[in-house]
Parts: sequence; structure tokens; C-alpha cells
Amino acid sequence: MLGSNTGRIDQNDSLEYDRKKDLQAFDDSKAGVKGLRDAGVTKLPRIFLHNQYVNEKKYKYTDDVITKFSIPVIDLESLGQTAAHRADIVREIKDACENWGFFQIVHHEIPSSVMEKALEGVRHFHEQDSEVKKEFYSRDMTRKFAYNSNFDLYKAPTANWRDTINCVMAPNPPDPEEMPEVCRDVLIKYTECIMKLGLTLFELLSEALGFNPNHFKDMDCTEGLVLACHYYPACPEPDLTLGLSGHTDSGFLTILLQDQIGGLQVFHKNQWVDVPFLPGALIINIADLMQLITNDKFKSVHHRVLAKNVGPRISVASLYRMHFQEGSESRLYGPIKELLSEENPPIYRETSRKEYIACLYNKGLDGTSLLSNFKLQK
Ligand code: OGA
Ligand code: NI
Repeated sequence: MLGSNTGRIDQNDSLEYDRKKDLQAFDDSKAGVKGLRDAGVTKLPRIFLHNQYVNEKKYKYTDDVITKFSIPVIDLESLGQTAAHRADIVREIKDACENWGFFQIVHHEIPSSVMEKALEGVRHFHEQDSEVKKEFYSRDMTRKFAYNSNFDLYKAPTANWRDTINCVMAPNPPDPEEMPEVCRDVLIKYTECIMKLGLTLFELLSEALGFNPNHFKDMDCTEGLVLACHYYPACPEPDLTLGLSGHTDSGFLTILLQDQIGGLQVFHKNQWVDVPFLPGALIINIADLMQLITNDKFKSVHHRVLAKNVGPRISVASLYRMHFQEGSESRLYGPIKELLSEENPPIYRETSRKEYIACLYNKGLDGTSLLSNFKLQK
């Protein structure tokens, strides 16, 4: 039972700290961070201690630096009006992708009710009876719907204060019966809306590079979609850990829905910038594979989520990325030829879906980028 495990995990001062054993006990509980919270832990279990973050905070980054920048907000309301309106929006997106890799969008046509229900569904999943929830606990990455805490628990240097549902929604979604009833309908509906918005976003990104609107779609960038539905419980010692450590996303593009708690930060011009909650907004960010195919024109930027003493914080990341897509594993991705010239030689080599996925699952959130695997020697 979890209750008996937490005693052990909570021995922060134990001289005989056996990290592996603690990780195993935590994993075996199948109750995640939510389970620790429910058991009433008042000290941060040692597996979650982020020494690097604690030191950085002490010596490098101060609060007044964090507030200097704010990420762009792009209003899509006039998108369908005239070609000139569309061109303006494309320009804003181009600027955001080149200089930030991150932006928020408003008036994107996904109804607030669909977004709220998705967040609620995720909350209900994580807050349901723990015995029922355990049935879905798995580290099997080939499963279409599973929940766990820290997909990289045994690989990453430190565990993060959050639990996550991973749900592969496209191109081959799970049978509805594979998804629990508490969140099934709302996630299916949310995905439908996201896939539509995603098509528009990829069109705008194509245009931002001077291509025809279907360029990225024709490269199958819109094909694979994975939902990461996060639950960040309130943390007893938020200054000692992170909800999600600094990382870049692996795929082409991410559409993120966050609730009002906050805590997401983007690393911009050498400092961490808060991404504030904006009612009705969605957060868009460029991911690694988009950086690779655009030969560094669009930037995949580090971001992280702070732990908080309030919560839970809930978010849904819609990750346009490859999974194990049957039959198309030999599909190659490399810098798009039209973007290359003598002044802009390729920075990366081509990689296949198969190789890329293997690299991705072999590595945890250790702060390094997947892209270094594909960089050409200068
Ligand atoms: C992610 C991510 C941020 C958040 O899932 O890759 O960065 O706010 N999520 O949960
Ligand atoms: Ni991310």
C-alpha cells in the first residue's frame, strides 16, 4: 500500500539513500504524485529533489529579471476576413516562431466549453478512485491510453512533481472502450477541435516560410497527435522541485491548454519568462522536428513548469509528433530543400521516423535536445 511506502520515500535525511529502491516503491504504488499528496506528505520525498534548480535559483535568476519579457499574443479573429488580414497574422506568426518559438493565440474558434470540459475530464480521471485508476497505470509506450508518473522516472536525474495521461489520438486513435468513461467523450471532442485548429496553424506556418499552405500537411506533419494530460498536485516544498523540468518538445508543434494556476515558463534571451494564464487562449510552441526541417529557422525553445503550493494545476498538451506509426517508419525528415542555399547549408542530416522515435524513447528529460543526434559536423 502507498501509505507504507511513503514513510520510506519521505526519509530525506536517511544516510542510506537508495534512489533506485525509492523510485521502484513509488512506481509500484501506481498512485503517482497524487497518491503522495493524498497520503499527506509534508516533506518533499528525496527522489523529487532538483538540486540544479535550487542552485540556479540561488545564484542565477532573480524574480525581477523574469518579468522583463512577455510572450506574443496573436489574435486570429480576422483570419478569414481578407487576404491582407491573413498576411498580417502570418507575419506575426513568423516573427513569433523565429524569435520566441512560443506564442499564445486567442479567438481560435475552439469553444471555451470544450476546453473547460477537457480540463475537467482530466481532473476527474486523476481524482477518481485510486483502485480504478491503477488499472490504467503503465509504462508501456505502445499503449494508446495509459497514465503514469514521470514517463522517464528511471532515466531522468530527478523526478518531477506531476502525473500524466498519455493518449495517442491520431492517426489511429484508441477504441473508445480503451479510454475510461470519465474523460473519454470530452477528450475525443477536444481532439476533434484541436485537429481542425492544427491544420490551420500548419497552413499559417507554411505560409510564414513562403510555401503553399499545404506544405507541412503534405509532409505528414499533421498526421500524428498525442495528448499529454498533466495533473500537478499542490506541492509541500515547491522551491525544491519542478512540475516539469526544462525540456524542448520532440515533435513538430505543440498546442497547450493550461488552467489558471500558472507556473509555465519559457527560456528566452537567457532568462525564464512566465507564460501567464489568458482566459480562452491556447499556447503554441515549435518543437524539435520542426526546427530540424526548417533548418533552425523556427526555434524549439526550452520550457518548464514550476511546482506550486497550490493546486492541482491541470494542463493538456496536444503534441503533433510521431509515435509508432505502423507502415510509415521509413519516412525521412531532413531540412526542407527550398530553405537551403550556399549561405544556408543544412545543419542536420535526414532521420527516419523509426530512428527518431527510438532516440526519443531512449532519452528522458535530461535538459539536452534530441536535435544534437542529427547535427551535421561543421
Ligand atoms: C509538455 C509541456 C507544459 C504544461 O507536455 O511538453 O511542456 O504546462 N507541458 O503542462
Ligand atoms: Ni513541453
